[in-house]
Amino acid sequence: MARVFSGIQPSGELHIGNWLGMVRSAVALQDQFECLYCVVDQHAITGGYDPGTLADRTRQMAIGLMAAGIDPSRSILYVQSHVPAHATLSWLLMSITPLGELERMTQYKDKAQRFESVPTGLLTYPVLMAADILLYRADRVPVGEDQVQHLELSREIARKWNSEFSPGAPFFPEPQAILSGAKRIVGLDGQAKMSKSLGNTIGVTESPDQIWEKLRPAMTDPARKTRKDPGTPELCNLYALHRHFSPEATVAEVATKCRTAGWGCLECKRVLADQMVATLAPLRQKSLELSARPDDVTAILADGAAKARRLAAETLVGVTERMGFLPEDR
Ligand code: TRP
Repeated sequence: MARVFSGIQPSGELHIGNWLGMVRSAVALQDQFECLYCVVDQHAITGGYDPGTLADRTRQMAIGLMAAGIDPSRSILYVQSHVPAHATLSWLLMSITPLGELERMTQYKDKAQRFESVPTGLLTYPVLMAADILLYRADRVPVGEDQVQHLELSREIARKWNSEFSPGAPFFPEPQAILSGAKRIVGLDGQAKMSKSLGNTIGVTESPDQIWEKLRPAMTDPARKTRKDPGTPELCNLYALHRHFSPEATVAEVATKCRTAGWGCLECKRVLADQMVATLAPLRQKSLELSARPDDVTAILADGAAKARRLAAETLVGVTERMGFLPEDR
């Protein structure tokens, strides 16, 4: 059976941007494939971070994934740092990764600008990502569009390693991106991609009141300065959210009421809030249940890590053999 791998950063809450994007497709893939889903805490330390909250954010993200439908009885759900082989393979892959390729990555170029002294981990981040995937010899990788370039580099690394250490019989498959989630989800500021660090998100497990508090001040079509000004739904980010959360008839009604100024933005937001609360209710329920059973969550992640370590160990044997290292038992 083909194998799926994906990683998600431990930003804490799983927000609707993550959910509508990669996570929903990761949930659906469980029906067809052997899936591994990993909270990538080692990726989260590459650009400055708060060690005081990392553990909680990691656990919260794992809970969010389970609340969204990642099922640990069907998929392997675990935390990256619990499987040291990720870092080991990453080191081995670095020996064949061209520096120039890493320097060309757009995410690296963007982020590096923010540092006076650039941490090496920011540069080598995509090698760790390649290691995540190749460690399980995964064939498919659900990702958001912003990760496509990194995935292309993973394919190149696999190709290069195969030709150098496993010529004629490729050891690593070249992983394919699965881009089935929603395209770019814009944050509540109506400007940037939804992202926890920008504070423009709604968490999938937030309460009805919290959801309303966030939607109420959210950016709409700037042309609607007063209640009477008609708007253009296509220019309103909240209309985009209606399309994800509201039934078709409601979406059509929203468009008409916006164009004719039949509703003010606040009325439109009220409808959206109700739809969002209803859609997310089962996720919130599941998340509250899991949060009340912290020992069970710990056990689930430990079990996932144990399974991942077994698969990873097999791959590492194949890798170190082909790379010519002295085995411990010889
Ligand atoms: N870099 C990815 C992101 O920021 C997270 C990630 C790490 C990942 N390792 C991965 C995604 C392996 C897919 C496969 O979204």
